[in-house]
Formats: sequence, structure tokens, C-alpha cells
Amino acid sequence: MAMDAELISLVNKLQDTFSNLGGELDMPQIAVVGSQSAGKSSVLENIVGRDFLPRGSGIVTRRPLILQLIHTNKPDSQGNVEWGEFLHVQKKFTDFQDIRSEIEQETLRVAGQNKGISRLPISLRIYSPNVLDLTLVDLPGLTKIPVGDQPSDIEKQIRSLVQEYISKENCVILAVSAANVDLANSESLKLARQVDPQGRRTIGVLTKLDLMDAGTNALDILTGRVYPLKLGFIGVVNRSQQDIISGKSMKDALDSEMDYFMSHPAYRTIARKCGTRYLAKTLNQVLMNHIRDKLPDMKARLNTLMGQTQQELNVFGDAAVFGDRNLQGSLVLRLMTQFARDFVSSIEGSSPDVS
Ligand code: GDP
Ligand code: NA
Ligand code: MG
Repeated sequence: MAMDAELISLVNKLQDTFSNLGGELDMPQIAVVGSQSAGKSSVLENIVGRDFLPRGSGIVTRRPLILQLIHTNKPDSQGNVEWGEFLHVQKKFTDFQDIRSEIEQETLRVAGQNKGISRLPISLRIYSPNVLDLTLVDLPGLTKIPVGDQPSDIEKQIRSLVQEYISKENCVILAVSAANVDLANSESLKLARQVDPQGRRTIGVLTKLDLMDAGTNALDILTGRVYPLKLGFIGVVNRSQQDIISGKSMKDALDSEMDYFMSHPAYRTIARKCGTRYLAKTLNQVLMNHIRDKLPDMKARLNTLMGQTQQELNVFGDAAVFGDRNLQGSLVLRLMTQFARDFVSSIEGSSPDVS
């Protein structure tokens, strides 16, 4: 497990390196898709283990949020064990309430006041000993009817934004549906099916199991007898609005979620494969499998890039490191070459075994 976590953190670094250079590395990401109020934000917060996402009824998430979780056991120089960093501002956030306000302000700044959406993502990294290494993308909730002064084509806008992320072959889709709504009406599954017709890279997440009508249960869905998804459905019970109002802690919520499944007559036998903790584990596994599948291609691309970099270095020479501002890019390229070499040798040194 430790080795694999390292591999993923290496990949995250590589992704940053590319994006700092204005390029793009098409790495696996996990995108959360669902109707408004299906429980997307709750699921994301539970995976992270902290309250930090803006919530509310109506359209709250109006820009994609790219959330990189980085497992770290080392406190920073100030002794913080857990903190957040945004790409758009040079500041360390140790108070998760401040992270929430920053997301709100940054949403307003770019997407405006009028409930419109923006395709421009907010990038947030969370460093914590309590997370597995994952990159998650939170997307605006799917809606049918424009509210307030939303543009009349808001449904189309959100749909196309979501599609932009989930149509990528290497995007894992976390399709969130509420268990108290008929699965046949699930917007997330409809959209996921369009881009992943075989259900190969879609994980179904069924929220609000506790709100189902008395006498009914979702055992058939959770055991894959209703809707075929290769990666299956995972049932979760998030905090209710009342839990949130009364300030129920995340840990208490996870514990009572587990109790819920273990003591439920229908879910007791599959309790091991239910709940937020199992969902997080599954996500990590899926991500590692994707990386493993992508390794040969990534290696080829890195080799090409290294060849180009070497040519540039030959042209500019070592003098490029000092002085001339026009040539300073070469220093970045040089560092990147070294990084790429390390990366390739680490791939060669370790074949991730994630059966
Ligand atoms: P989003 O709009 O998809 O991001 O949904 P939120 O996570 O903001 O949740 C919407 C509302 O549903 C909130 O009041 C949550 O407390 C509530 N909620 C979400 N998941 C569950 C669940 O599993 N059980 C219960 N009882 N309430 C939930
Ligand atoms: Na909501
Ligand atoms: Mg939300």
C-alpha cells in the first residue's frame, strides 16, 4: 500500500509539473456527478474527512473544483499536520472554514453573482494524514429547470461542462444517486452511460439509504442486480441536514454509518462493502489500476519530452541557468528532465501490484 501511495503522489507531482509548463498530462481523475442535493458535497467531504465545501440548496457549486488529496505524515515547519493550498493564491490554509470561504469568494469572483457557471476550475490541494491519495473533481449539480436569473440553457451548460470531464477515457465517474429517488430517474447514471456505455469506469454511489420508504431497501441495486456497473454500487449514509445543524462530527458520522450497515437486516451481510470508508478504498484501488494501465504510454511520452528537453538544453547550455530572463525557462526544463528521469526509473524499479 505504501509503495502504491508513493507512486500516486509521484504522478500528482508530474501532473503539476506539466501544468506549470502550460502542458497537460492526461491522468486519471475521479469526477463526482449527480443531481443537485443528491449528496455530492457530503460524499466528497466524507472522503476527505473534513467539513470544507460550500453547501446549500440551489446551485452552490458553480465552478469545477479540482481537489487533490495528498497523504502526508510529516507536519509542516509550523507543526500543522493538515492544510489546504489553492493554485490561485499563495497562502496556506490551516482552518478549513477559511477554505470554504475562499472557495465561495473565488466562485463569485469568476462566475459572478447571477447563478451562472464558469468552466474555469478552482484547484485545491489538501495535505493530510487522514486521506488516501486521490484527485477528485467536484462538478456543478445537474439541474432541469433554470432558477432565479439563471440562463435558460443552464441545463445544457452544466451537462456540457460535466461531459467535458467525464468523456475523457481515463476519468473515473463517481455517479451519485439518492436512494429515495427511483434509479430510473438518475441523471448521473444517464450521463455516465452516454460516455461509458459498458459501465467500465463508473462507480455508482447510492446516498440517502436512511431516507428510503420503510419496508424498502436497495439491496438489489447494491448487489448489481438492477443496473450493471463493472465497478459496482456502493451505498453510503451521509449526515442529514439535522446532523449538520446539530454539529455532528465527521467521525461520529462515519461510525454511525458503519453501525447502520452492520445492524441493518438487509445490508448486514454486505456491510463490509458498504459505506464511506469502503468507497475511499475502492477509489484508491481504481485509480491505481488506471495508472498501471497508463504506465507504458506515459513512459513513451516522457521519453519524447526528455528528448525535446535535451535538445533545448544543448542549444542554451548551462549559461541559461543564470542571468538572461529569456533563457530561464531552461532551468525549469532541466529540473523537469531530472524529475522525469527519476520518474521513469521509479516506474522501472517498481511494478505496481494492485490486484
Ligand atoms: P449536493 O447538492 O449533491 O452537493 O448535496 P449535499 O451534500 O449538499 O446534500 C444535500 C442535502 O442532503 C444536505 O442537507 C445533506 O445533509 C443531505 N444528505 C446528503 N446525503 C444524505 C444521506 O445519506 N442521508 C441523509 N439523511 N441526508 C443526506
Ligand atoms: Na446542495
Ligand atoms: Mg454540493
